[in-house]
Order: sequence, then C-alpha cells, then structure tokens
Amino acid sequence: KEVKLWGGRFEESVTDAVERFTESISFDKELYKQDIMGSRAHASMLAKQGLMSMSDRDSILQGLDEIERSIENGEFVWRTDREDVHMNIEAALTDKIGEPAKKLHTARSRNDQVLTDFRLWCRDAIDKIVARIRHLQVSMVILALKNEGLIVPGYTHLQRAQPVLLQHLLLAYVEQLERDAGRLLDCRARQNFSPLGACALAGTGLPIDRFMTSDALGFTAPLRNSIDAVSDRDFVLEFLSANSITAVHLSRLGEEWVLWASEEFGFITPSDSVSTGSSIMPQKKNPDPMELVRGKSARVIGDLVTLLTLCKGLPLAYNRDLQEDKEPAFDSVKTILGMLEVSAEFAQNITFNQERIRKALPAGHLDATTLADYLVKKGVPFRTSHDIVGRSVALCVSKGCQLQELHLKELRTISPFFDEDVYEFLGVENAVKKFSSYGSTGSECVASQLDYWVTKLEIK
Ligand code: ARG
Repeated sequence: KEVKLWGGRFEESVTDAVERFTESISFDKELYKQDIMGSRAHASMLAKQGLMSMSDRDSILQGLDEIERSIENGEFVWRTDREDVHMNIEAALTDKIGEPAKKLHTARSRNDQVLTDFRLWCRDAIDKIVARIRHLQVSMVILALKNEGLIVPGYTHLQRAQPVLLQHLLLAYVEQLERDAGRLLDCRARQNFSPLGACALAGTGLPIDRFMTSDALGFTAPLRNSIDAVSDRDFVLEFLSANSITAVHLSRLGEEWVLWASEEFGFITPSDSVSTGSSIMPQKKNPDPMELVRGKSARVIGDLVTLLTLCKGLPLAYNRDLQEDKEPAFDSVKTILGMLEVSAEFAQNITFNQERIRKALPAGHLDATTLADYLVKKGVPFRTSHDIVGRSVALCVSKGCQLQELHLKELRTISPFFDEDVYEFLGVENAVKKFSSYGSTGSECVASQLDYWVTKLEIK
C-alpha cells in the first residue's frame, strides 16, 4: 500500500472500510479543473515570493497541464486510496515530475484548497444557471408575443377572479425569474472572495501573497479572516437557498401548466415532443416534463436542508463533516439546470387553445369587479357598490345568466345608479379594457411591460 501524503506519524494503514467510508474522490473529482487552476495560481505565487524556484514552478505548471489533459481524455486514473481530488492530483504530479511537486503544498492546506476549488466551482455554476434563467425568460416573452390580445381567466383560490391578458400572466413569471437571477448574482458577488492562503485555519508565517492568488483566480479580494475562510459554508448555503427559491417558482409554473393541459382546463396543448404516454392507456398524453419540474424541486429544497443540517452543529474551524457539502451542491446545480432547460423547451412547445379559452370566458362573472368600479365612478361608495354588484351576481346565478345579459330595468331594481353606459363595462373584453393602473392588465400597461422585456432581454 502507498504511504498517504499525511502518513508520517502513522504506523498502521487505515482499514478498507475506513478508506471507503472517508473517500471523496468518487464525487469531488468534479472539482478537478478548479483544483488545477488553484494550484497554478499558488505555484506562481510561491515562485514570485521566493518560496520555490522558477524552474520548479515551470515543471509544476507543465505537469499540471499534462494532468488536466489526461483527465479530459479520460486516461487519468482516480485512486480511492488517494482519498480526494486534491491528493489525487498532487500525488499524480509527484509521480510525473518528482521533487518539485513536493513544494506545491507549501503554505497551503486542503482546508483552504477545497474552499478555493468549491468557490470557483459555485461561481461557474451560478453563471451557467443565470444563462439558463435568461433563456427561459426569453422563451416566456416569445410565447407572450405569439399570443397578443388573448384574454384568460385570472384566478384566486383557483376560482375565477378577473379577466387578465395572457401576456400579463406570462410576464409575471418573467419577473420572478428576474429576481431569481438577481439573487444568484448577489450571492456570486458575496461569495467571490479567496480563501487560498488561510491554510489549515491560522494562516502562515511564510511570506505568501494572498492578494496575488486572489487576483489570479478572479476573486475580488482575499477573505479577511483565515478561520472564517476555512469554516463557513454560508456562500453555498446562500447559493442553494437561491436555487430553492428558483425551484419553487418553476414548480409553481409546472403546476399551472399541468392544470392548463388537463381536459378540465384545456388552455394549452403541449406538442408531442414534450409529452409522454402511458404503458397501459393508449389514449394518454401526459405533460410529464412539467410534472417532473414540480417533482424535482423537492430535491433542490432537500439539498438545501441537507446542507443547513450539516452545518448547524459545527464548531470552528474545519471539520470533516464539511466534506459532505459537495454532493448536495452538485445535485442542486444539476437539477436546477435541467429544470430550467426543460421549462424553456416546454414554453417553446405549447400552443394556447384560443377558441376554447374564448368560449369559456363568460363563466364565473369575471367582470363583476369592473362593474363595482363603474358604480364608484358614478359616485357610489365602494362598499355599497360591492353589495349592489353582489346582489346583481346573485340575480344572474338565480337566472343562470351573465351580468351583461341582465336588462337595464332589472339592474335598476337593484340600484338607480345603473345607466345605459353600464354595458360598456360588461363582458370580459370590455372589462379588460378598463384597467389602467401602473402594472395592471390593461393592454397599454401590458404592452409597455412587454417592450421593457423585449429590450432588456434583447429579443429580436
Ligand atoms: N476532502 C476534504 C473535504 O472535502 C478536503 C479537506 C480535508 N481536510 C482534512 N484536514 N482532512 O472537505
């Protein structure tokens, strides 16, 4: 058995079970690129500071290049007995270039190394997620552009409430996604600080330059406190929190589209390319991708809860428990990327059943609130007008008709404030036209929202 990199004081090697239980190479090899980047920056800094010769640095840099290539070719052999990604790469470098490699771990611990890798990885992951959020936003705006003027029932309590423009409703999701991206970018700015050089926890007496490595790796600055640098995982907790909120937004979108695709709603028809069938019921065509978007949000939330639970009992500084931080983060990122991709594809592959939606619009007295506003314009206090319209709706319910089908005579038996012009406010088409407040579903307001997004998202 090979002697461990930390093997000096040990007389016995670890048991096979302990080796299998404590390894992290099976998952942290995901960090190889960031680990190599960190080592390049560290070696260059050590040479500049006179802690290794320029020629040692050059052979380290060359060796790292070769290792990176062999990992990418799939030729590199990851060894469980070398525990984690850091020791696998360092030991492979020693195998390759010999003595100079032994200087690489000067003024560095795996504790600051793993965090350097992990922060770089999260930064990269945030950029990928934000790009997919943008893509979904664009898909939603394009879907809105395709359905200009379409009125749909707006719901509260899943009961018909007021008529809204479909564009308005789709743009509500675009707004949510904008905040999701904003949260990720805030988190990115807060997490982009360098732990490298914090060493095990206390820093070092060797003359390193943490600002140099921080710059080389694109961090804003080195973290101020070495103990904090190796202890906390709040940067990834914040990241997974942001992912969880995005996942909840996508899950709600999934729920909405699953409902809309049902026979009962019948608002949308997903194309075959985003639907799946049943192994027993030949007629079935199910919106499974959006059901799974809803379902997979559970994993993203679970990943956050795993990490919160992992951290809650730990004293300063590094504890081995923290090795368990990576898999939830990897899973959260992989899952949210898939959810965003499939949601965008779904948005690109649904058609709104305009005729069917139009036919269903008269149900549910969607124009009742607009009618109450009509009376307010006539000088009736809102509470009174609410009551008058409530009684008008009750009359409709008893007659089985819509508000616009009541005769003026009938309306006047309820209130003398009703006039001939009331019919300009009734019916969903008329009702929608009456909205004018900032952010409302009025067609001009929605058009200006749409313009805003078309410009902001650079949609041609
Ligand atoms: N694989 C470890 C992790 O992911 C690296 C740090 C190990 N440090 C240590 N002192 N054992 O956290």
